[in-house]
Amino acid sequence: MRIDVLTLFPEVMTPFFTSSIVGRAQSSGVVEIHCTNIRDYAKGVRRSVDDRPFGGGPGMVMMCGPLFDAVEAVEAADPRPATRVLLSPQGERFNQTIARELSQEQRLLLICGHYEGFDERIRLGLKPREISIGDYVLSGGEPAAMVIVDAVVRLLPGALGDETSHVEESFSGNLLEYPQYTRPRVFRGMEVPEVLLSGNHAQIEQWRHAEALRRTRERRPDLLEANDTDQPGDSGGQASCPPSDAWLVDRGATS
Ligand code: ADE
Repeated sequence: MRIDVLTLFPEVMTPFFTSSIVGRAQSSGVVEIHCTNIRDYAKGVRRSVDDRPFGGGPGMVMMCGPLFDAVEAVEAADPRPATRVLLSPQGERFNQTIARELSQEQRLLLICGHYEGFDERIRLGLKPREISIGDYVLSGGEPAAMVIVDAVVRLLPGALGDETSHVEESFSGNLLEYPQYTRPRVFRGMEVPEVLLSGNHAQIEQWRHAEALRRTRERRPDLLEANDTDQPGDSGGQASCPPSDAWLVDRGATS
């Protein structure tokens, strides 16, 4: 997969894209990520990318010209068709289902805005998919682009390595993750549950499923509504109607 990020702050993005799982996925050729500065496509001495809104009002609006030029130049750099994504608080709310959809694409083009918003013709002319990462307003789309890149890249085959992909297959369902423990067995008087030390894999599996259910019921009962996951040991999430936030059990690596 190729991901292009169009931003006014490429220097903010690069360290994130070269670290941890995303960085490793790039090194191993699972994904290539390119950041382009929208300002490189701005014209005039001042290289403006924003201007005051017609009709008045506070703040500045991101101009069409530099962004259209940047999108067209970046898309021409690779023959694969790009799915355009505009990061904005007005978009559809990002979730694991959307992450999975995006992970199926050959190429993504993420557009980060700044200022009060985008000239509406950016939406009309570029026809991007518009995505929000939550009901709050960020100063720019960059943190949202990082969230989306991270969630998408870890779904790409080979991004997490063989071991974790295998773990992935043995779980399913829209449950929160069960409690995890590592050494030492006792820390400040708090003990690791006995069952996890038993070596009895069936019992461990049952315990984890029960804990995941309990935790989900306590914290996110909405996730259970569309789903019948009540039987320990059942497939836990082969729901006939997939939930919007399907699959919150973290099966991924932690580094
Ligand atoms: N830009 C500003 N706020 C945002 C949000 N909540 N999601 C995505 N992009 C944004």
